[in-house]
Amino acid sequence: MKISVVGSGYVGLITSAGFAEKNHNVICVDIDSRKVDLINARKPPIYEKGLQDILDHVIPKYLQASMDLATAVLETDVTFICVGTPSDNDGSVNLKYVKEVAAEIGRVLAKKDSYHVVVTKSTIIPGSTEDHVIPVLERESGKKAGKDFGVVMNPEFLREGVAVEDFLNPDRIVIGSLNNMDGDMVEKIYRNFKAPILRVDLKTAEMIKYTSNSLLATKVSFINEIGNICKELGVDIYDVANGVGLDHRISPSFLNAGPGFGGSCFPKDVKAMVHKAKEVGIEPILLEAVLKVNENQPKRVLELLKENYDLADAKVTVLGLAFKAGTDDMRESPAIPLVEGLVAAGAKVTAYDPQAMEHAKSELPKISYAKTVRDALSGSELAIIMTEWEEFKKLDFSQMAKKRVFDTRKILNTDLMAEDVEYMGLCW
Ligand SMILES: NC(=O)c1ccc[n+]([C@@H]2O[C@H](COP(=O)([O-])OP(=O)(O)OC[C@H]3O[C@@H](n4cnc5c(N)ncnc54)[C@H](O)[C@@H]3O)[C@@H](O)[C@H]2O)c1
Repeated sequence: MKISVVGSGYVGLITSAGFAEKNHNVICVDIDSRKVDLINARKPPIYEKGLQDILDHVIPKYLQASMDLATAVLETDVTFICVGTPSDNDGSVNLKYVKEVAAEIGRVLAKKDSYHVVVTKSTIIPGSTEDHVIPVLERESGKKAGKDFGVVMNPEFLREGVAVEDFLNPDRIVIGSLNNMDGDMVEKIYRNFKAPILRVDLKTAEMIKYTSNSLLATKVSFINEIGNICKELGVDIYDVANGVGLDHRISPSFLNAGPGFGGSCFPKDVKAMVHKAKEVGIEPILLEAVLKVNENQPKRVLELLKENYDLADAKVTVLGLAFKAGTDDMRESPAIPLVEGLVAAGAKVTAYDPQAMEHAKSELPKISYAKTVRDALSGSELAIIMTEWEEFKKLDFSQMAKKRVFDTRKILNTDLMAEDVEYMGLCW
């Protein structure tokens, strides 16, 4: 099938590369000329495992990047909208980019004779396709949704860090459609994917995505709160989580206590669900608590550090800045408030992250960045592990002036560590 994908960020580029890998002809569109040029030069603008190999394989035969949305829509049968849906100040989801793109697509559809299906993959709050996307498409095209063009909601569940693997091998594919024919067309695109396909209406598809992210975020805040209690009781939360996660009704996933969830999805999606709940007259007691626990977790790291060490003028190393391993994404990373707190407490901070330092420099301009983990640790008095990168797991910390380590993720193999390393955990 001929597919266009509008927005070539984390989701758009992985979607484009994934469909191209399955031998569809894909044009991915972005307004950022730098991204478009990088993609066409087979240079991934983001770091994701396996993405380079796919781009090498599919460009230019199956995938091309472009800034020309009109041509992309005219030359394809289906368009996926994959632009960002950030939070507004009140927590509600901002649909500005989705609506702008829908308007542009609508203007092209006005001139297009053949049937075209518009699929929203961006995460949008339940009701958005019917209340916003369809009215904009109809207004700009002068045509009728479900009759002259198709509308589908196909939420994306990939995780950054393992995005390629997740996209190509999803647990399920959710297709919400206005009518069966539109849903069938999108189902055909996924015919070579080995995953159950769930066919629902538009609003249900939107709600499945928010429910999924809200539940995962709840698991994280739950285990972090239990972890904070464990720390005070002298119990290791990781042993507790192991004992709990072996129960098949619970599963071990998302039971790793740590500095809290970040990234571009969980914080904004839970906030949007809270906002929507209030709008429809429901007090979202649990979801508000999930956000509160999460906001407090980096503060808890700082509190424990202040209780145990004198941070003023101390040479402190922060290992890991990305919100999780496997990505260069700094959005809502718990490392940001932690580093800001360390700087405010007078610490001299040097940071190192294998992938996220370029993005971090604009977020955290007041600190030093080291080229290697060894340089970062050299002469340091305290190392704080914030992201669970593989390369941090076997460090011996011999370069440090004072060998003191605070591990927020419990990734260190303490059996391999020299005896003179003093270490402490967040929830253990
Ligand atoms: N990142 C994730 O892990 C993830 C997972 C599942 C779902 N989602 C959802 O997918 C959506 C996209 O997220 P993302 O992380 O890929 O965002 P992103 O910010 O990485 O990418 C968005 C892209 O859209 C481009 N863009 C903006 N306006 C445009 C326009 N008018 N025309 C063409 N391109 C335009 C931007 O330049 C950018 O490259 C969001 O709704 C998000 O909630 C994200």
